[in-house]
Amino acid sequence: MTNCVVVGSQWGDEGKGKIVDWLSERADIVVRYQGGHNAGHTLVIDGVSYKLSLLPSGVVRPGKMAVIGNGVVVDPHALIAEMGRLAAQGVKVTPENLRIAENATLILSLHRELDGMREDAASNSGTKIGTTRRGIGPAYEDKVGRRAIRVMDLADRDALEAKVERILTHHNALRRGFGAPEVEHKDIMEELTSIAETVLPFMDSVWQLLDKERRKGSRILFEGAQGSLLDIDHGTYPFVTSSNTVAGQAAAGSGMGPGSLGYILGITKAYTTRVGEGPFPTELTDEIGQFLGEKGHEFGTVTGRKRRCGWFDAALVRQSVATNGITGIALTKLDVLDGLEELKICVGYMLDGQKIDYLPASQAAQARVEPIYITLEGWKESTVGARTWAELPAQAIKYVRQVEELIGAPVALLSTSPERDDTILVTDPFED
Ligand code: IMP
Repeated sequence: MTNCVVVGSQWGDEGKGKIVDWLSERADIVVRYQGGHNAGHTLVIDGVSYKLSLLPSGVVRPGKMAVIGNGVVVDPHALIAEMGRLAAQGVKVTPENLRIAENATLILSLHRELDGMREDAASNSGTKIGTTRRGIGPAYEDKVGRRAIRVMDLADRDALEAKVERILTHHNALRRGFGAPEVEHKDIMEELTSIAETVLPFMDSVWQLLDKERRKGSRILFEGAQGSLLDIDHGTYPFVTSSNTVAGQAAAGSGMGPGSLGYILGITKAYTTRVGEGPFPTELTDEIGQFLGEKGHEFGTVTGRKRRCGWFDAALVRQSVATNGITGIALTKLDVLDGLEELKICVGYMLDGQKIDYLPASQAAQARVEPIYITLEGWKESTVGARTWAELPAQAIKYVRQVEELIGAPVALLSTSPERDDTILVTDPFED
């Protein structure tokens, strides 16, 4: 297939960075279509580490076009800072290699402040989400509320004045509720004017650009952020991010029709992790959970928070295979399981005495489910760096086969270390 969508099939942090980087080398265009600078990953190219958060991975590869689609919420300050960090490493981000959708929503400082005020207030009431405090949710609220400032508004000062007035009426009312000082019209105008000159040269009609490239036969890689269980509709609501993270959003968030999306690759960690609050049926709070966290370096890239760890939950991933239309998965971090005596996989749940094979949609039921496990023998040998099936111990292959069977999708790629070449390729998503 010409195009490929990469999605996280769990709660994010599945190791998308390495796989996206591996695929971006073979793509012409890399597109972000949801989320914002709440995402984060580190790319290691020729021994140099690049930390990306808002910019699509393609930006660090010469000759590739990086695109920020309309579904992304763009914090211009974070954008400029990230471009500055890359420039210091010798990577030039110019309008030649980065385009930003004219209809993408901007995150303003008042969104970040509101995110923080809400999380602080919620700490005492038990309703905390554990957000990244980057203003993601408040910015999406303004988008859906039809009062957002979008990239194109930076080019029209008169229209901008009226839009700023409108957004401030809303935010100042909220801020009064938190006892926070009101934001002045002139301060927002100054904030926006100061960044307009830097951001506007990157502005483009992304749907037209992608349509043209698709017709030319360019390979387009859609880079998802977060994971399917953090999807605003299909995730563990309300403990989710504020965008649709499932593969269908690659179309809506970029303006390319869903029929052209191509291969849907679900990045899947060989165990489960989650950051922030919310239900997590297979969470391990014992020494095995600690082992996974330490061996898997499970700390958030953006916030540095410790990730919660647990057994692989096949019921959840099976659900993600359905909600994303996953063609195949990239299984990551199998090596973290090396040395464990036995391994458990959750195959379904008990809910009020009934067996179910999916995570119920209600928050209360999600908190009550008890995982049903199967147990597999572990393996003593190291799988680190394996590049062929023959290098894997028999029990590790058995584990992978069991995962495939339970989730109902084949392994297309198997990643056996953070090194880009430590990958077993079964199916090339671009050539399937
Ligand atoms: P927000 O996206 O900052 O609003 O945070 C909402 C929830 O999504 C929180 O539980 C965050 O920890 C989680 N989240 C957001 N971005 C990521 C990510 O890139 N990886 C994992 N979790 C994330």
